[in-house]
Amino acid sequence: MKYVFKNAMVLTMNNNTEVLKSCDVLIENDIISGIGNLNNEQIQGARIIDASGKLLMPGLINGHCHVPMTLLRNYADDMSLQTWLFEHIFPTEEKLIGDDIYYGSLLGIMELIASGTTCFIDMYDHMNDLAKAVEESGIRAQLSRGMINASDGPDFSDDARLNETIDFYKKWNGAANGRITGAFAPHAIYTCSPAYIKAISEAAKKYEAPIHVHLDETLVEHEDCLKKYGKTPTQHLYDLGIFEHKTVAAHCVWITEEDIKIMVDNNVTMTHNPSSNLKLASGIAPVPNALRRGVNVILGTDGASSNNNLNMFEEINLAALIHKGVNQNPLLINAAEALRMATVNGAAALGMDNLGVIKEGAKADVILIDMDKPHLMPVHNVISALAYSVQGADVCLTMVDGAILYENGEFKTIDKEKVSYGIKKSYERLF
Ligand code: NI
Repeated sequence: MKYVFKNAMVLTMNNNTEVLKSCDVLIENDIISGIGNLNNEQIQGARIIDASGKLLMPGLINGHCHVPMTLLRNYADDMSLQTWLFEHIFPTEEKLIGDDIYYGSLLGIMELIASGTTCFIDMYDHMNDLAKAVEESGIRAQLSRGMINASDGPDFSDDARLNETIDFYKKWNGAANGRITGAFAPHAIYTCSPAYIKAISEAAKKYEAPIHVHLDETLVEHEDCLKKYGKTPTQHLYDLGIFEHKTVAAHCVWITEEDIKIMVDNNVTMTHNPSSNLKLASGIAPVPNALRRGVNVILGTDGASSNNNLNMFEEINLAALIHKGVNQNPLLINAAEALRMATVNGAAALGMDNLGVIKEGAKADVILIDMDKPHLMPVHNVISALAYSVQGADVCLTMVDGAILYENGEFKTIDKEKVSYGIKKSYERLF
């Protein structure tokens, strides 16, 4: 298909503050193939989308999610991470079947695309059902099976979760025109033994797979690790060889100065999850310091059970607010930095320089925001508007890989009625 967005205001993210006024953008197949004055030959046969009064920007990249957890939204709230996870979430997750994952994922993907997210990095269970939802919906995702130790080794060749990870990676990495990629995901240092983490690292090496892991999320995790291993969680993962792989580490709330150095030296990406960290009272990650030192920081919602939504504009907003407040410094994490974390930095975490930007040759993962709203007028500064005023619901069109997935409240690839029915059935069975 061929599309032209006509007369759009365009935030390219090529350069922090570059905003093109009244610009035309041409999409051919899965690629942005023209920006600016387009000639008749270029636009021939294209569907013309009137984008006047609207802002075109790269789709948002959600850097840490558990998308099927929409099923557990508003189910266990106002408690510590340990109580929440071990007494409520893990026991319920034991009961999940493939259909729950499939419909829970589709529900989460509907929420993601309706609020401007075009790509997400996810770790969960029943991954074939999750991947099927990603494939059918048209969204982009890096997917991994969260691994937790059952046996204590030392031989993990029969480990069910590790073997599922390998099978999943072989089957899905690069699938759906490259929209789906895989990763290996040791859940966390408190749910995986050192020997297991080492085995995962060795397997990842064999398949040249990236890593997705929870890291240093709570003070309890940090202090237990010091007690048990005499080092920080970051140092622990480093010593086990995890950072030899391209790694996305979620949370990093309690990382030290030395940990930040390890992350910079090993090119480890850190996912900042402000809503989840606030809600579970995990603490506030040292994002300004990590950014200043050169860590690639991205933004994530975490699962809908600890947020309790998948709205990335809320994370952008919080990331731009909380560090100012807790440090009593209004200069920390400006609007442009928060937007970079949700776009280009996310693309860098995935090793893709043709994503998260509007430029010729980039992947056509774009969103359109309706700026003709009372809470967005007047537009003094587009960047500020996006970080401080825009709501997820202002997104009026979401395109991934050159296909429109959502337009003016309508889902083009997902049957909303069918998903509602599937969710109702899962809810009744589970609760
Ligand atoms: Ni998580």
